[in-house]
Amino acid sequence: MAESSRRDFLTTAAAGATALTANQTLTAGLYAGGSDLLKIGLVGCGGRGTGAASQALKADSGAELVAVADAFEDQAQSCRRRLSRSFNKEGQPDRVVVTDDTVFAGLDAYEKVIDRADVVLLASTPHFRPRHLKAAIEAGKHVFCEKPVATDATGVRSVMASTELAREKKLSLVSGLCWRYHDGKRATFEKIKEGAIGRIVAMQCSYMTGGVWDPRRTREQCSSEMEYQIRNWYYYTWLSGDFNVEQHIHSLDKMLWAMDDEPPETISGSGGRQVRTDERYGNIYDHFNVVYQWKNGVKAFARCRHWRNCETEVDDFIYGSDGYADVMAHTIYDADGNVRWKFEGEGGDMYQIEHDELFASIRSGNPINNGDYMCKSTLMAIAGRMGAYTGKKLTWEDMLNSKEDLSPPAYEWGDVPVPDVAIPGKTPFV
Ligand SMILES: NC(=O)c1ccc[n+]([C@@H]2O[C@H](COP(=O)([O-])OP(=O)(O)OC[C@H]3O[C@@H](n4cnc5c(N)ncnc54)[C@H](O)[C@@H]3O)[C@@H](O)[C@H]2O)c1
Repeated sequence: MAESSRRDFLTTAAAGATALTANQTLTAGLYAGGSDLLKIGLVGCGGRGTGAASQALKADSGAELVAVADAFEDQAQSCRRRLSRSFNKEGQPDRVVVTDDTVFAGLDAYEKVIDRADVVLLASTPHFRPRHLKAAIEAGKHVFCEKPVATDATGVRSVMASTELAREKKLSLVSGLCWRYHDGKRATFEKIKEGAIGRIVAMQCSYMTGGVWDPRRTREQCSSEMEYQIRNWYYYTWLSGDFNVEQHIHSLDKMLWAMDDEPPETISGSGGRQVRTDERYGNIYDHFNVVYQWKNGVKAFARCRHWRNCETEVDDFIYGSDGYADVMAHTIYDADGNVRWKFEGEGGDMYQIEHDELFASIRSGNPINNGDYMCKSTLMAIAGRMGAYTGKKLTWEDMLNSKEDLSPPAYEWGDVPVPDVAIPGKTPFV
């Protein structure tokens, strides 16, 4: 398509971007960068990254996907193909303009995507998030940042610094803690904060499922131990944080939300590997039970497990002095168990709303910064893991000062240590 007609299209399209409010359309499309076009770059081309790119393109019709990066070429190419099929339609300007020269593979591929984009979507495995985010914010890019944001306290501190820098640079930083963008959850928390259950006295959350994908590759199918572990990232604590960090963070974030983003004071828990005992399941646990206690005495009882053929339960309850909330059901009960309030709306597509709000914030020049709570929720989840791994009661202060750094000796396609499974009472708190 000729450049002039592409520009016309982009101007018109940006003016009609669904995410913009009536007021914001006055500045239609002209974002702080001075161009109508918002160039999107994707880092981490798996399921979530592909979804996030799709939602970003739907959020703003004046945006194009210009570059993608993944540790692996096959992942990057398949994501590019899927998105091109969905967004490049006969007779219409292409929305996915990734070329052979803008598909990047390798552990430094993210740098090349960040160079080329205005908005960067970070959806690789959690371990790499702090360095990806730091590079994106230092380069002055708006970011959509999937959860969790790190796998150790060293990484969280880096993300805290990037959060601050994003604020100084007036960049948008939207977190993938998607329930905060869900209409039903937002309405429920609004009610709780208005006092609909009285004063919060306790909370309980469960994320008990059958688990996720089985290891994707064998060692024989990989060219190095580093490739093997990154292909099977979920099962390695240094890469995923363990599943209470990777997955249960969604529930813990709701506990934090209920407490007005004040972190807990102490954390103590237990966990282990009951069914995921095979060596191919790396070094993560398959169950955790953690108690978080706040300064005012409120406790959150948090449990998660990955056991197949067992009861599944994913829910969050907040108990008050005058009733309780079933957050996942968007329902508030009085002290006798009668429904006092129920959200009647649709809930909305939280994955889409995140991007609608991100792009609207960029277009309007009113940056969103979700950095504070995404760091705290990640550190809460890491604290649960460290409490269970070590068997020690930890304080928030311990966590803020933890020196744990799970980074491998080098980011190279070679050998990397095979980590041990933690043993409470033996594994030290670092
Ligand atoms: N908000 C949500 O509801 C939600 C849902 C699913 C996943 N997620 C999060 O999204 C992230 C990705 O999850 P997924 O399900 O897409 O996993 P996935 O395995 O499908 O994709 C991860 C991709 O990252 C790539 N990758 C690994 N290391 C990389 C690096 N250093 N640089 C670039 N790419 C790298 C992998 O090769 C893979 O293609 C995780 O942090 C996960 O917790 C969030």
